Amino acid sequence: MYALGIETSCDETSCAVVKKRDVLANVTVSSLKYHKKYGGIIPEIATRNHLKFIEKVFKVALFKARVNIKDIEVIGVTYRPGLLGALVVGLNFAKAVSSALGKPFLGINHLHAHLFSPFLNSKPPIPFPFVGLVASGGHTDLFLVKDFDRIKTIATTKDDACGEAFDKVARFFGLDYPGGVYIDKLYSWDFKDSFPFKCGKVGFDFSFSGIKTAVIYKKMELEKKKELDRIEKIKILSSFTESVVKTLVERITDAAKKFKVKNIVCGGGVIANRRLRQLLRQAQKNEKLKLFLPSQKYTTDNAAMVAGLTFYLYNKKRLRSNIHLKAEVN
Ligand code: KG4
Ligand code: ZN
Repeated sequence: MYALGIETSCDETSCAVVKKRDVLANVTVSSLKYHKKYGGIIPEIATRNHLKFIEKVFKVALFKARVNIKDIEVIGVTYRPGLLGALVVGLNFAKAVSSALGKPFLGINHLHAHLFSPFLNSKPPIPFPFVGLVASGGHTDLFLVKDFDRIKTIATTKDDACGEAFDKVARFFGLDYPGGVYIDKLYSWDFKDSFPFKCGKVGFDFSFSGIKTAVIYKKMELEKKKELDRIEKIKILSSFTESVVKTLVERITDAAKKFKVKNIVCGGGVIANRRLRQLLRQAQKNEKLKLFLPSQKYTTDNAAMVAGLTFYLYNKKRLRSNIHLKAEVN
């Protein structure tokens, strides 16, 4: 049995075929280059590109997986959260393939799919219960996961998402989009504590808008004093990174303690950050936790995680498809 996954929630048009958790093909076309000059994702451009590429990506994925379309048992598609027009393209395509084949389709929550990403191409049982962290351009959420159909949100962000803060700060420093990638490249361990930036905390929830503003003010202050050279920029960006990633690590370890679980699972674009991965591994050692990270290629949006979760849920429950399922932005 094979599952097909479709992901179009943001700027990646992606289609994947899996067998259990083994990824047979994962084909992605990104419209990123068309958004760069705007410093963020433009929904209309993303939607138009999904329309242009969805069928090609689907055909190439089947070809690469060497799977006959008739052998696809179930189709999974991201139906929330994401950009409305972008989601609608993938959802309708999945509904069309499902009706043409007479095979069920499942609507998949994109954030839950990110939490599935560490388990792709792995054999050991999924370590329920776990605390899950999704840190991406649109979300910074903590979950308590007893199973993939028993997921409770335990914290979210009150303002900017973590990746969004990286992107906005980067833009202010004249760096390219997506900013997290470029700030990561500039990170220097020697300068990580140059400025005492702090992230906000609202109860158990995150807040990144204050630190973003503090960083921007610090840059303006040094600029005014004519002290903003390359080293000072690296000092600011490294201190910013250090504070953000430390906050993520602290919060996920606190949540593990609070809910008395030993396993922590991370997913989403920000999880590609090198310093974050290093601190998570340290926390695993110091706190005697078991850490599950996706490989770098499955941190950003991809259909493999959607197909993997689809296979898992369908196998568990034999869910029936709902042709009336609607795309949801949140
Ligand atoms: O999961 P993702 O591909 O898309 C969403 O679902 O949003 O995440 C994209 C986000 C962007 O904000 C990007 O700046 C951030 O992930 N990102 C990073 C790194 N790579 C991507 N942030 C920090 N360090 C990185 N290495
Ligand atoms: Zn994502």
